[in-house]
Parts: sequence; structure tokens; C-alpha cells
Amino acid sequence: PYRIAVFASGSGSNFQAIVDQVQKGKLDVRIELLVCDRPKAYVVERAKAAGVPVFTFSPKEYESREAYETIILEELRVRGIDLIVMAGYMRIITSVLVEPYYGRMINIHPSLLPSFPGVRAIEQAVEYGVKQTGVTVHYVDGGLDSGPIIAQRAVEIHEHETVESLTDRIHAAEHVLLPQVIRWLSEDRVSLDGRRVTVRL
Ligand code: GAR
Repeated sequence: PYRIAVFASGSGSNFQAIVDQVQKGKLDVRIELLVCDRPKAYVVERAKAAGVPVFTFSPKEYESREAYETIILEELRVRGIDLIVMAGYMRIITSVLVEPYYGRMINIHPSLLPSFPGVRAIEQAVEYGVKQTGVTVHYVDGGLDSGPIIAQRAVEIHEHETVESLTDRIHAAEHVLLPQVIRWLSEDRVSLDGRRVTVRL
């Protein structure tokens, strides 16, 4: 089977969307591990309920990002992870993970990149006044939300939109797009050539 590890920091609705597709038999992958930097995050409960092994850690107990990433890397290697999925993992990744997993590590981001990288992307889009935003799944490189784009989905911003109402529609779009991209990758239908990504449908 195609083995994935999901990294998340918060509620884990995207983690749950992946679990649901696997349980319905629509996504032929094994979720081998959840990696979480906040031991009390709700995503940890979701993983336990789904029977997914969990690796949690507290960054402040390590002297550097590289120190905890080295331990995570070993966890990934012993499990033979094919793909890392960043689903609301709110930490910068270093070359310890990026180098061995470049091309095998993806992230979901709640904007149409390259607009609104970084934190608070949904708020940034509302404040800027754009009429359309959306979601992006991209490969992770050494920069901030800067890697090659695999897929995007647009979401309209309505008049009188609130951050809350927009967040609901952004999440709904993410829950469709992320499992879909994981399916393409698991079926080896995605090729990466420089910044250009091609999907064979
Ligand atoms: C998602 O909207 C994801 O796109 C975003 O965090 C949320 C996690 O929600 N990620 C980023 O902002 C990364 N910079 P979830 O925990 O319910 O899946």
C-alpha cells in the first residue's frame, strides 16, 4: 500500500477528510502516522478514534527545529512513508525534512498562492478585498508556501462576507481537494518538472 504520514497542529478537519475517504474505500492509502506539535490538539483525538498511530512532541523541549525533525525523520523512515501531507501544520520545516522528502511532501494552504502566503491567509484575503480566493495544494520546498503548485480550487468572496463564513467554504473546498491530490499521487499520476506540475487524468 501507499503509506502516508499527516502532519497537523489543530482541529484536524483535513486529517478527518482523508480518514473518511480511506474508510469509504475511495482512497487506497494507509495513514501510517499522525505527527502533531501540540499534544492537546483535537486532531490527536481524531487519530486515536481512527486507530492511527500518533507521534506528538513539544517543540520547546528541543534545542532546535532540526533536533525534533531528526527524530521525526527516523519515525518516517522506520514506517517507510511514501508521502508527507501537511494539513494545518503550523511550523516552518527545515532541510532535515525537505531534502529527503522533496517531491514527496505536500501542503494545503487556504489561499490561491502565490497570494497570501503565511499565517491568517483567509483573514488576509478578506482584508485585502479580493473577490476570489481559494485553496492550494503544493509541494513543500525550503520557502514559505512557495513550492510547485499541484492543484487549486477557487472560492468566491461574497459581499458582507465574514471570516467565519468564508472559512467554512474554504474548509469545504480543502476537504475535496486534498484527498483528490493524495489519490493522484498514490496512483503515480503526477509529474514534477522544475516548477511545472502535470497531472495525468
Ligand atoms: C486549514 O485551513 C489549512 O489550509 C490551514 O490550516 C487549517 C487547518 O485546519 N493551513 C495553514 O494555514 C498553513 N499555513 P484543520 O486543522 O481543520 O485541518
